[in-house]
Amino acid sequence: MADFVGAIDQGTTSTRFMIFDHGGNEVGRHQLEHEQILPQAGWVEHNPIEIWERTVAVARTAMGKLNLGATDLAALGITNQRETTVVWDRRTGRPYYNAIVWQDTRTDRIASALDRDGRGDVIRQKAGLPPATYFSGGKIQWILENVDGVREAAERGDAIFGNTDSWLLWNLTGGVDGGKHVTDVTNASRTMLMNLETLQWDDELLSFFGIPRAMLPEIRPSSDPSGYGVCRVSGPLGGEVPITGDLGDQQAATVGQVCFNVGEAKNTYGTGNFMLLNTGTELVRSSNGLLTTVAYQLGDAAPVYALEGSIAVTGSAVQWLRDQLRIIGNAAESESLAAQVEDSGGVYFVPAFSGLFAPYWRSDARGAIVGLSRFNTNAHIARATLESICYQSRDVVEAMREDSGVTLDVLKVDGGVTANNLCMQLQADVLGVPVSRPVVAETTALGAAYAAGLAVGFWKDTNELRANWNESQRWTPNWDAERRESGYGRWKKAVERTLDWVD
Ligand code: G3P
Repeated sequence: MADFVGAIDQGTTSTRFMIFDHGGNEVGRHQLEHEQILPQAGWVEHNPIEIWERTVAVARTAMGKLNLGATDLAALGITNQRETTVVWDRRTGRPYYNAIVWQDTRTDRIASALDRDGRGDVIRQKAGLPPATYFSGGKIQWILENVDGVREAAERGDAIFGNTDSWLLWNLTGGVDGGKHVTDVTNASRTMLMNLETLQWDDELLSFFGIPRAMLPEIRPSSDPSGYGVCRVSGPLGGEVPITGDLGDQQAATVGQVCFNVGEAKNTYGTGNFMLLNTGTELVRSSNGLLTTVAYQLGDAAPVYALEGSIAVTGSAVQWLRDQLRIIGNAAESESLAAQVEDSGGVYFVPAFSGLFAPYWRSDARGAIVGLSRFNTNAHIARATLESICYQSRDVVEAMREDSGVTLDVLKVDGGVTANNLCMQLQADVLGVPVSRPVVAETTALGAAYAAGLAVGFWKDTNELRANWNESQRWTPNWDAERRESGYGRWKKAVERTLDWVD
């Protein structure tokens, strides 16, 4: 058997190709960013052709750096930014429109209309999601209604939809020459169109958005020996490699963090934060603003579900300090600036730039910095920004405890912001539980590799994967309970100030 497994991680800001060995160690990678297209306030788009070209380039370069060929890879896994919507012509391979990104809020009116006549409750019940601009269903509807000729083409079966996993899979497996139109259960669970119990597209949900069934990909398990086909010889790997894993990026990180037991959770700190709690084969419906989602499905085994707390703005609040306020020169300076002060000096920052996601789901919220006095400096603002990342995560942890009864013993973390020691220390302080980061921080790509490798026997079972997980760093709480609770109480008050801002 070949020595390695490859993974494509198609994220919101960049695409990377990673190569792992049997110990789950990274042996190679290459990464390229793509353009963030911002045509107007609230709109965020990507060019799908650019994403495909970057995918080809990162795969070729990562393999080339190590002099590897297709026969060195036992399998290929794919993971992707979820919800981001591509509609393309299967006859030409041309997208009808740019990809509409998960952060895009143009479908605000489509989402709020769903809650006016009870359809929202059906979506909550069947899909496990609250009606929101975040998910794919409204984005597909927008393209059908606003781009000439798409509806007719969709009804004929020529215009097809996919998240970026499906877009890449179709191109990798042949494109116009018989490319496979497929996705996995985790990606499908973010569309508002899949029934969480049957794991199939649901006609009633499709009717809410006027989406023809012929547009939709076939739904497969996340780890699947035959459903995704083979990367074609002329593709970026220079030979045939079986594609046997596909998961949304946050679910992939859950697998990469080996959260295979009920009650295990991980929190990924990227542009936003995404915390997933494994609830096992039981579907737990949230009464506290969390999403019910599929965590993974490995082959023929029953699907495993999760509760998810999605937070839209965390790492991107640090970028805002750098790019808009210009009080830091790079992300790392947020730590040194915030460390100049003992605390946030009474300042609270709620970065509700495009409304609030979990657990509030308020698109009418907008950001606020409250508690300012003349004493405050840039350092307090920087510290309040780091604290906002931690308080938003605490909101999600509280909701998870109420929904599931699970109290976390430790929080497993990954993602770019976990390089910020002060932020991770604050996270332990704000939660009152230890925070733990693994040696392999690229848990998203690793999870996709694990799903692919399990399907071809490169890894035997999840116990073998669990043995690969090692801690690199742990932060333990320093604050006493009084400081923790009074700080959190203030945070809740600050959140109140941001609501009802947009009419
Ligand atoms: O739901 C959106 C999420 O999948 C995006 O993750 O890491 O690409 O920002 P990321």
